[in-house]
Amino acid sequence: MPREFVISGLRLFWSTAIMNEGFSEAPQRLVEDKKDTILSMTNETTKMSVKVWRGDKSSGSYQTFEVPRQENQTVLDVVTWIQQTQDPNLSYRFACRVGMCGSCAMMVNGAPRWTCRTHVNKVLDGDTLEVAPLRNLPVIKDLVADMDPFFDKWVDAGGHHAPSASRYDDMPKISSDEPERAEANKSIECINCAVCYAACDTVAQNPDYLGPAALQRAWTLLNDKKVDDHDAVLEKVSGKGGCHNCHSQGSCTLYCPNGLDPMRAIAGLKSATIKRALKRGG
Ligand code: SF4
Ligand code: SF4
Ligand code: FES
Repeated sequence: MPREFVISGLRLFWSTAIMNEGFSEAPQRLVEDKKDTILSMTNETTKMSVKVWRGDKSSGSYQTFEVPRQENQTVLDVVTWIQQTQDPNLSYRFACRVGMCGSCAMMVNGAPRWTCRTHVNKVLDGDTLEVAPLRNLPVIKDLVADMDPFFDKWVDAGGHHAPSASRYDDMPKISSDEPERAEANKSIECINCAVCYAACDTVAQNPDYLGPAALQRAWTLLNDKKVDDHDAVLEKVSGKGGCHNCHSQGSCTLYCPNGLDPMRAIAGLKSATIKRALKRGG
């Protein structure tokens, strides 16, 4: 499959996940769910102070809203309540609401999180919550970060699958017991939410750095026997923005909501690129 097709598919998913104005186009069941949620939230008397980033790529500042507390309330519920009862112009992004798509990722009290899986009880600082767009990415508007640089780095790291066989060849048999397959399995559940990318201080300091998700993807491909050219994968991650920029302090691994370990994958790439360089005589 052409890589542009894969990447444009990813971009399309993210752009269609943007929610901007009210819920006039949402399915009826979703609308009823939201009305119930809003009613039960409105009955609560306890309130919290929620600072929400407002603005676009040129400027912005925090706006504070008083939001009713509810026992089982996620940060995404809070943002939704603000948009539907206080300001319909608040832009944010979500799709699945169950920790499957990763599109709801934002900074919550300074840490990157899936907001649909983050309960307010766990992150409230006193009675204050601060919600901002993902770090290390440009802002489109309010809580919506521009994912293009993140996906561009996927392309730069050779993140697409370039097969060694065509559809006319026999499917290669790969046992789940093989060490390479087991290694690839550890990273394969990445859903490109960019939480690790937002957590990475090296990305913050070095805009050329490919970042944890793209490099982890390269590690998966390196361990995939069905990939045609493993040397090309290593070449992509050996350059200026490559794996050797990683300082191995593990924020990516700490914050990945899927429990993945990009730092370990990058350590594997470092080792593989060094072996390759030694084999070539430096
Ligand atoms: S490694 Fe984890 S945090 Fe990073 S993009 Fe993948 S799922 Fe998200
Ligand atoms: S371990 Fe490497 S990739 Fe992960 S957050 Fe630190 S510098 Fe970034
Ligand atoms: S909305 Fe899909 S992971 Fe949160």
